[in-house]
Parts: sequence; structure tokens; C-alpha cells
Amino acid sequence: MHRIVRRTPLSPNVTRLEVEARRIAETRAPGQFVIVQRTLESERIPLTIADAEPAAGVITLVVQAVGKSTRELVAMQEGEAIATVCGPLGRPTELIERGHALCVGGGVGTAVVHPIAQGLHRRGVRVTSVIGGRSREWVIYEAELRRLGEVVVCTDDGSYGRKGFVTDATRELLARGEVDIVYAVGPVPMMRAVAELTRPLKVHTIVSLNPIMVDGTGMCGGCRVDVGGKTMFACVDGPEFDGHLVDFDLLADRLQTYRAHEQNLMQGHACHIGLPTS
Ligand SMILES: Cc1cc2nc3c(=O)[nH]c(=O)nc-3n(C[C@H](O)[C@H](O)[C@H](O)COP(=O)(O)OP(=O)(O)OC[C@H]3O[C@@H](n4cnc5c(N)ncnc54)[C@H](O)[C@@H]3O)c2cc1C
Ligand code: FES
Repeated sequence: MHRIVRRTPLSPNVTRLEVEARRIAETRAPGQFVIVQRTLESERIPLTIADAEPAAGVITLVVQAVGKSTRELVAMQEGEAIATVCGPLGRPTELIERGHALCVGGGVGTAVVHPIAQGLHRRGVRVTSVIGGRSREWVIYEAELRRLGEVVVCTDDGSYGRKGFVTDATRELLARGEVDIVYAVGPVPMMRAVAELTRPLKVHTIVSLNPIMVDGTGMCGGCRVDVGGKTMFACVDGPEFDGHLVDFDLLADRLQTYRAHEQNLMQGHACHIGLPTS
């Protein structure tokens, strides 16, 4: 069992959970994830390890409440325990050793970008983060990323930072010609748009894919993605891939696979923490 030691709401539907998981905290690397089951009967859901405190034996998960399982998870309170936390899974991020990295985070993807920016900063790489949210209250992890380098905040409605998508600020930063690599994590259309910006400039771009994961061990095939014409499993070959090689059409289709099923589950779910149910 993995006790929740701290629970912090970050935005209207994103919650940070700091969870006891000593061995994972001691061994995790940037880019890796865990598979979490709230109870032994619950669905298995992959969540990126946003941070870790090895001395305290605690990992940080940042959860966006989008479906039944994530809503149940964020409804848990401090002191309650998650039944299983399996990991660290996935390949660690390919971190450059020197130069200038652009870390682009959209929505909850900003929390996923954080360990990557941390790992780069520790190596002495210059980090610039571009983070976005629909409006001010949806911007997360700004303070944490400011400790690691320059941060450009974008909001779709202009209520904070600059008005516009993260792709607008990314385009301008790329035009300065000082960027060696881009890491982009967020909604699939955002990652695809960033990859299309960097493709003509030949700037290596790593995206973190969020397909359907079931076992997390490469056995079930649930997380198939097409990268450079080859079938890969995001759980064992990823979750990060070269954004210029990913078949984003196929990925977008796969992410829709269980939408109807999820909506059916949500119809029978009464939210106790004030979130909308559709
Ligand atoms: C590897 C990986 C790990 C993940 N791990 C977790 C996890 O640990 N926990 C979790 O809850 N979820 C996780 N996710 C889920 C995923 O990040 C979210 O579903 C996704 O970010 C949607 O966020 P949102 O609804 O806030 O997006 P939105 O609020 O719709 O968008 C956020 C921002 O993205 C930009 N954007 C959106 N659409 C576009 C577009 N068409 N063009 C350009 N820019 C755009 C804008 O700047 C916008 O403000 C993970 C995803 C990935 C890829
Ligand atoms: S989650 Fe089963 S193969 Fe990747």
C-alpha cells in the first residue's frame, strides 16, 4: 500500500499527489512512469513520475481528472493509501549533455516536462520552458520550472502571460536559432504542431506519447504506436519518441478507442469533489 502524504490541487482539474513509494523514488529517472491501481479491483492507469524525494521515499504524481479512474484517484485524501504503484517503467529521457533545450508543456503535460527540465538543468544544459493553459488558473508548475531556467507562460485567453498557444511562443524562440533540442509534452495536437514547427528546421524533437496502456510490460499490445513505419510499444520502447517519426493520425484514433466506454462509466459516477461529469 502507498500512502498519500500530501494532496495539493493545482488547477481546476489537476491535483498533485505525493505518494510513498521508496524504491521507485530511489531509482526513477526523468521520463519514466508508474502504473497505479487505486484498489486491487481498479483499472490500471499510467502516470508520469513528476518528481521524487529519495530521502523521504516519496514520488510526485500529477493527475488530471478526465475519466472515472483519475477522478476516483484525485478524490483520495491525505493518509489514504493507493493499492499498487508499479514502476519505474519506460525508458528514461534522452538528455543532452550541453547546449540549449526548449521544454514545451501544454496543460498537465507541463508536470511531465518538469523532471526532464530538472535532469537537463542538473547536467548544466540551458533550459527554456514554454508552458500553456487555457487561462491563468490552468497554468501549473510555473514556480518549479522558473528554478531551472527561463519560463514563457502562454494562456489561450491572455488572462496570464502572453496570449496564444504554446506553439506561437515556440515558433518565435526557434526563430532565434539557438535551440539544440525540443521536448514537447501535452495534448496530441500540440505535440504534433510542435513537431511540424521543428521539422523544416531539423531540430531534434522528442514527444511523450500517451497511448492506451494496460500491463505496462510489453505483453498486451495495448500501447502500440507507429514510429517511422515500425510498430513500437510505448510502455517499453517509449514513452518518448522522435516527434518527426510518429504517426499522429493513428495515435489520435487509438486515443478515441475507449471514449464511448468511458462516457458510459461516467454516467454512473457521482462526483464528490465538484468536477463536471461530462
Ligand atoms: C507521456 C505523457 C504522460 C502523461 N502523464 C500524465 C500524467 O502523469 N497525469 C495525467 O493526468 N495525464 C498525463 N498525461 C495526459 C495528457 O498530458 C493530457 O491529456 C493532455 O495534456 C491534455 O491536457 P489538457 O486537457 O489540459 O489540454 P488543454 O487544456 O486542451 O490544452 C493545454 C495547452 O496546450 C496547447 N494546445 C492545445 N491544443 C493545441 C493545438 N491544437 N495546437 C497548439 N497548441 C495547443 C495550448 O497552449 C493549451 O493552452 C500524459 C500525457 C503524456 C503525453
Ligand atoms: S501496455 Fe501492454 S504492451 Fe504496452
